[in-house]
Amino acid sequence: MNQRETLKINSKGHLEIGGCDTVDLAAKFGTPLYVFDEKYIRDMMDVYRDTIDREYDGHGLVLYASKAFSCMAIYKIAAQENIGVDVVSGGELYTALKAGFPAEKIYMHGNNKLLRELQLAVDSGVGTIVVDSYDEADMLNELAQKKGIRQDVLIRINPGVEAHTHAFVQTARTDSKFGFSISDGTAEKMTAYILKKGSLNLKGYHCHIGSQIFEKQSFVLAAQKAMDFMAKIKADLGFEVDTLNIGGGFGIWYTDEDAKISVEGYAAYLEALIAAVKDKANELGLKRPYLLIEPGRSIVGEAGITLYTVGAIKDIPGIKKYVAIDGGMFDNPRYALYQSKYTVLLANRVNEECTEKVTIAGKCCESGDLIAVDVPLPEAKRGDIAAVLSTGAYNYSMASNYNRNFIPPAILVKDGEADYIVKPQTYDDLIRNDVVPGRLK
Ligand SMILES: Cc1ncc(COP(=O)(O)O)c(C=O)c1O
Repeated sequence: MNQRETLKINSKGHLEIGGCDTVDLAAKFGTPLYVFDEKYIRDMMDVYRDTIDREYDGHGLVLYASKAFSCMAIYKIAAQENIGVDVVSGGELYTALKAGFPAEKIYMHGNNKLLRELQLAVDSGVGTIVVDSYDEADMLNELAQKKGIRQDVLIRINPGVEAHTHAFVQTARTDSKFGFSISDGTAEKMTAYILKKGSLNLKGYHCHIGSQIFEKQSFVLAAQKAMDFMAKIKADLGFEVDTLNIGGGFGIWYTDEDAKISVEGYAAYLEALIAAVKDKANELGLKRPYLLIEPGRSIVGEAGITLYTVGAIKDIPGIKKYVAIDGGMFDNPRYALYQSKYTVLLANRVNEECTEKVTIAGKCCESGDLIAVDVPLPEAKRGDIAAVLSTGAYNYSMASNYNRNFIPPAILVKDGEADYIVKPQTYDDLIRNDVVPGRLK
């Protein structure tokens, strides 16, 4: 089990989170259910923010990468913790604005932002937009000009750092769809292009090397390469940018194959990064950049668990035993996407010895609809409550209504209290946008 403070086994032998018995939560709210530990989320936001304050005189900002988990409550928490957010679509932006998140602390990403998304961003006063294509720069310049403003922008660059993670979550390889490469000169060309745009104010660069990365050195290397590039731009174009956004990507614990990093341990990533940025600034004679980081997974990932009820059990002798749960790829598509691994517990019998290896299957009409393969469990029975750990990031946000299943509700727990942050869907929600044209009647 991981080191999260509020995840415990209580006197009944039940899993507890945020002071709430998960068996009681399942009975009260039903399953499948996403459960988020508020303390963990706040602790993670705080540790990143405090490290920037302590090690870098507060000359920077933590942006919660809300693609990891987006709903109004999480933006409220981010605002209360005095951090910024990154959004990657009109939908995330709208949610943040509706939650009252200050627009100037929103950074907008996307490799193909739509005109209507840029329009919403400019109209609502989004602080900074991270530009990732020439025509986006053109569209944005025109929108800003019409509004009579100079829009702050960063350019997404690709430092060419290969991080050790799944290929689909590596974003800074030379063949990536994201960013402009430093090595082939396109990042410099884009810089010159933006500098000629009268209604865009180039603040600096953004890079993001990937996700679920454990090596500090990968982040350090990306920052060093970005700063070498900043020095080159200063020499070539006589322009010194003042912001460096190093993205997110800090790894989390899913199974014991992953490192268990304490909440404070994450500070060490930032300390290493900040030390490298200071050294590079001294070496290259650059001013210290305003430093941004964008952690998503490490803020909400381990803060979340999903509760399910065990249903059908199918033993194929000598081959596989399936334990089916009332969820599946519609609430957690990560196994289907990346063969992700998870730790699974029987929340109502956590102390019992694991006696078999089973595959946790979902209820969708897909053979690949699995949540965890060959995981140790005590012998599961229909009605047991299964808890899948570390599901706070990229689960709810990647959920769908596949097979017209409901996207499960989410609750926030703290000190024994539990509240909905995403309500349950109903059958009427599923048909809300369906239309039967007159000619079919
Ligand atoms: C631009 C950008 N920033 C931040 C993140 C957050 O990464 P993570 O959740 O791994 O911290 C991502 C994730 O894909 C991203 O694309």
